[in-house]
Amino acid sequence: MSVTQSLRIIGERDFERVVQSLAHGDLQPSSTSLSSPNADVDNNRVWQREILSAEAAALASEFATVHAPSAIPQLTVVPVSNGTRAITLALTAVAARATRLGLREPRVGDNVIVPSLTWSATATAALERGFVPRLADIDPQTMTVDPASVRRLIDDRTFAIIAVHLYNRMADVLTLRNIADEYGLALVEDCAHAHGASLGGVPAGMTGHVGTFSLQASKTLTAGEGGLVVSTDTELMYQVASLANCGRPCQTALPLPAGNDRLPVLSAALARSQLERFEERHAARVSLWEELDTVAEGLPGVRPFTRQDGVPPTYKWVARYQQSSVNDLASELSDILNVEVGRTYLPLHMNPGYRPDLDPLMGPYVLEDRARYLAAYPGAEEVYGTALTIAHGAAADLRFAGRYQSAIQNL
Ligand SMILES: Cc1ncc(COP(=O)(O)O)c(C=O)c1O
Repeated sequence: MSVTQSLRIIGERDFERVVQSLAHGDLQPSSTSLSSPNADVDNNRVWQREILSAEAAALASEFATVHAPSAIPQLTVVPVSNGTRAITLALTAVAARATRLGLREPRVGDNVIVPSLTWSATATAALERGFVPRLADIDPQTMTVDPASVRRLIDDRTFAIIAVHLYNRMADVLTLRNIADEYGLALVEDCAHAHGASLGGVPAGMTGHVGTFSLQASKTLTAGEGGLVVSTDTELMYQVASLANCGRPCQTALPLPAGNDRLPVLSAALARSQLERFEERHAARVSLWEELDTVAEGLPGVRPFTRQDGVPPTYKWVARYQQSSVNDLASELSDILNVEVGRTYLPLHMNPGYRPDLDPLMGPYVLEDRARYLAAYPGAEEVYGTALTIAHGAAADLRFAGRYQSAIQNL
């Protein structure tokens, strides 16, 4: 199989896996018929088979094995409906178990600190749980949330910090965890872009109390739609599993009212077959990201971000440019390179679609904070004004870095 073929998102193996799942006839195949590459991990997850579908339970252990192969303690994973709900469930679970985790007691209307430069779901997931997002600036040198900005926002109504591993960068989760511990706050890692990524040897999602992933169509591991919640704290994950399953009992989980956030069986089957090819695809993306970093360092008018110690998230490769119009440059490069080149997310404080004060239920809480979220965030504005993203599909072309180099040189 050529590299290009193996990097195509949907292949024959996906058909086989989904059809195999359908062949069981009841969309709830018996766990005994499902194979997993790691039987030991599976045996440790007996409780998951009581509350998750067998496909989802197998996906959970297989994802842990691929994302965090040598992690001790092991990563526990609960597949859920999508990456947005994964964040809401994570916040709900840490809030429910705040005392056991040594966190501040949460109250409705408490604040959750999120970076201004992120997809809106990071903030709206907090609103869904009755928390008010408070926007922190990012460091324009790293593109991720600035710990100093986070610290400035903490007050006696702060409950959690959400760190986002944005595009191809890991947030400084070690510093953020220290800040969280100092104030008794929860640290949630939004790893929607960070499948297979690590910082200083620690896989994404394992420094915070809990981490969340998206399996949405554009992500580097996809089931079309879907999400994962991960933690090294198994008791916390009992709570997540119960909350994602209409409050069904799960070991020591508190019996809380909850909705249905299960990952459908067919989506879990698809995610499992995608996972089989993840390592190969991830390696191709990491290698392209390294090549692009090297090439970009020598190009006039391009400012890449400094490299980090670890494996980068490979969702989108990002660099900053000197051109006066990044919009024009994005369409020019998209045409020449035949791959999606685009702007970063519109920072939330500039986003006309992000008006939490207009929510009739949360508005009264948010209004107190309105001045804050309408403030200026120079770091987020600088990155938004200068940076362009290149989608991970670029890794299907082995000559992409060379083509990028000539495209920039010939502008
Ligand atoms: C940073 C970030 N967080 C959360 C999400 C939400 O994931 P989903 O689309 O699966 O709900 C996304 C999705 O694009 C994202 O980019």
